Amino acid sequence: MAKAKSRWVCQQCGFQTSRFLGRCTDCGGWSTLTEELVMEDEAGKKGFAQRLAQAKSGEAVSGAVSKPITEIAVDEVERLSTCMKGLDEVLGGGLVPGAVLLLAGDPGIGKSTLLMQVAKNLADKHKVLYITGEESAAQVKLRAERLGVRSENVLVAAEQNVVAAYDLMNNTEAVVCVVDSIQSVYHPEISSAAGSVSQVREGTQLLINGAKSRNIATIMVGHVTKEGTIAGPRVLEHMVDVVLQFEGDSLRQLRLLRAVKNRFGSTSELAIFAMMEEGLKEVENPSALFLGDRLSKVGLKQAPSGTAVIAGGEGSRSLLLEVQALTVATPNPSPRRVVNGWDYNRLLQLLAVLEKRAQLSLCRLDVYVNIVGGMDFSDPAGDLGIALAVATSFLDRSIDPGLVAVGEVGLTGEIRPVINLAQRLKEAHRLGFTKALVPRVNLPLTGVPKGLEVIGVESISEALNYAIPSIDKQTLKDKASQEQVLTRELELNKLS
Ligand code: TYD
Ligand code: MG
Repeated sequence: MAKAKSRWVCQQCGFQTSRFLGRCTDCGGWSTLTEELVMEDEAGKKGFAQRLAQAKSGEAVSGAVSKPITEIAVDEVERLSTCMKGLDEVLGGGLVPGAVLLLAGDPGIGKSTLLMQVAKNLADKHKVLYITGEESAAQVKLRAERLGVRSENVLVAAEQNVVAAYDLMNNTEAVVCVVDSIQSVYHPEISSAAGSVSQVREGTQLLINGAKSRNIATIMVGHVTKEGTIAGPRVLEHMVDVVLQFEGDSLRQLRLLRAVKNRFGSTSELAIFAMMEEGLKEVENPSALFLGDRLSKVGLKQAPSGTAVIAGGEGSRSLLLEVQALTVATPNPSPRRVVNGWDYNRLLQLLAVLEKRAQLSLCRLDVYVNIVGGMDFSDPAGDLGIALAVATSFLDRSIDPGLVAVGEVGLTGEIRPVINLAQRLKEAHRLGFTKALVPRVNLPLTGVPKGLEVIGVESISEALNYAIPSIDKQTLKDKASQEQVLTRELELNKLS
């Protein structure tokens, strides 16, 4: 007979123990264990031991068979288009019937809005079941009205019982099901609160069963903890087919959607949306949006000092971004390095390279670096552009506004090759840039657009010499002593 036992379960990693621990011995998380009741089935345990003994003795127990991979037939599945180009790309070509997706994001970022828009687009041809555990049906209707959903094909159920949700999935014609959210639904046979590890795990398992047996593409909304990770056990991410991350600043309009895991496509695609009055709108030309008024300066003689344009490559899309840097004398013995939208340690490394390989005396200066537009940029191909921005700020000079810089900077000051260079250059040319500073090792390059002058450089000092002409050793020395005098003055002011 099944009997209930109390267990302490880590809410982060799912580790179980019979007694309370302040720190999980598995994942090291503090105060992550909560008490849950688990059913133990004695008869099941005995049966398992018996089957194990049978298997050991070579007796067939389950009739399982394997076959050569070449003989396995694959049905060509037709993907469902969400009619949102960016979203389809992130999904690897549309929704796969029977796939289970997890859409994670901060509260208020627009998860429910995105899914209601997906429901609206699909409802032209298919039935969509929208199960909400967070809001009432009337609240969902209010949002739907705002988004212009008027189809009878969108079926809404305010349901928190996951077994009832499973029943609904089994008894509809829907091809897509939305569960908003997995943390708000509960399994009636599990005593712990909704959102706990066991609830999330069992609920997900049931929904996966429903999705696979009826071939319903199921999208579950997942909450994000304040540390930015998906709430609930990590097993959740392993269980589903696709994990989508919806990011952005809820104060700004911009939203980024990317796949963290995708069993049916690549994870390098990125979709960019803007949150408008009437829902999410895809941004057709994100580079133009991020570059803003920088684009109007392309034809001018000089760009403002301390700025450069870098080109990132996210999947099949290239993104041009402006980077701004400011170097300033400080009376503080340990100067500040502040960076927004870029990796802090990477900046420290780049500053060290500039100091040692390009003789820029930055060690006593505060350095601020900002990727304009609020986008997080982690592509090392941005190194060269950031180095140029820092150098021009330090030297009070500027570069050609029509120049875009792409390249990774190594510790010896060498410019390392980058991937997808031709694609990045095409995007730069499309936006009107006329020159590109690129790693020489990437050359010769096929597919360079006509009208774009491509300059290959081998080292950081060669790149600086090209982009900021007439900087000789004397200029660098003078600049360094000028900054030293300024720093000394500031120190004396601070002391007096
Ligand atoms: P919501 O989708 O409810 O966020 P989530 O489900 O991720 O918690 O919506 C978040 C915000 O979006 C909300 O503050 C209002 C805003 N919003 C718009 O600006 N325009 C719209 O058309 C809609 C529906 C919402
Ligand atoms: Mg919501």
